[in-house]
Amino acid sequence: MPPVESILVSEEVPQITPEAVSEAVDAALAAIASAGDTAQLKAARAAHTAEGSTLARLNASMRQVAPEHKAEFGKLVGQARGRVNQALAAREAELEEAETAARLEAERVDITAVASRARTGARFPISLLQEEIADIFVGMGWEVAEGPELEHEWFNFDALNFDEDHPARQEQDTFYVAPASRHLVMRTHTSPVQVRSMLDRELPVYVVCPGRVYRTDEFDATHLPVFTQVEGLVVDKGITMANLKGTLDHFAKVLFGPEARTRFRTNFFPFTEPSAELDLWHPTFKGGARWIEWGGCGMVNPNVLRAAGIDPEVYSGFAFGMGIERTLMFRSDVQDMRDMAEGDVRFSEQFGMVV
Ligand code: PHE
Repeated sequence: MPPVESILVSEEVPQITPEAVSEAVDAALAAIASAGDTAQLKAARAAHTAEGSTLARLNASMRQVAPEHKAEFGKLVGQARGRVNQALAAREAELEEAETAARLEAERVDITAVASRARTGARFPISLLQEEIADIFVGMGWEVAEGPELEHEWFNFDALNFDEDHPARQEQDTFYVAPASRHLVMRTHTSPVQVRSMLDRELPVYVVCPGRVYRTDEFDATHLPVFTQVEGLVVDKGITMANLKGTLDHFAKVLFGPEARTRFRTNFFPFTEPSAELDLWHPTFKGGARWIEWGGCGMVNPNVLRAAGIDPEVYSGFAFGMGIERTLMFRSDVQDMRDMAEGDVRFSEQFGMVV
């Protein structure tokens, strides 16, 4: 190759020598290789191939090369630019692939992973106690009976021997459901299931009826306007108050331990005669063993048997009823009944995940 001076006609453009070209190529390749991402590569492309770069200027200086050397130097510069462009393309592909892989990795969702925020939850303690109570009676051969929560006034009051204008209809703080002409109420107790069971079933009847009831009560530590009761009813030949007492004592012992027992205090309910207030001797009560008001009971009033088409000369029966929230309160030392209505899983979790 002839000396550079001899082929150049201007001093203002770089001199094309194999050294100058390979220096420019080396600088470009080094910049391309060290580009760590596509943005840096873009900068390297601009610095080493765009207008003003050494290679571009060397290329431009081809104009000054003597015609007989044009082919030779053209090849030199052309190959140099080719190598640099190839390296650019290769590095670009490499970086794009790496960037895509990094983005996919960053956005990865492991669909097989167990979601750490999903909580197991817990069953509602009222449902658990309701089932535990039903099981005690099923264990004695009784059946579980149900009735509607939106009840006809006849089942909730009339058939249960409440007078037309018996104060108890108001005392029970009834939610009447419009229109009044349909005589529908939200049942104020589970006792209407007594009547339904007697009408639905063959005699004898041995049923336990847990369910939700409604009263226009305050929402406070000891009252809920919607709560749960459990009703018991037996109708058979020769049933006496001794059967009622024995049944309730057994029930108390299963729920509250072998020391538990019950006692009756005289009371009045239109649907039982005689009627009694039922007290429970709670041997493991938090503040020390004591008597606690538990519910109501009595011998089924002959008028109720008659309303259900049963001859009170042949059959007799007993019935009892109590609140499940109240029972849970003094059985498990719950201070505030509202905890049973608010649905905070931390409350339910304390009672375990019994199924
Ligand atoms: N139904 C009565 C109440 O809600 C309880 C009860 C049931 C009383 C059965 C006697 C017999 O207060």
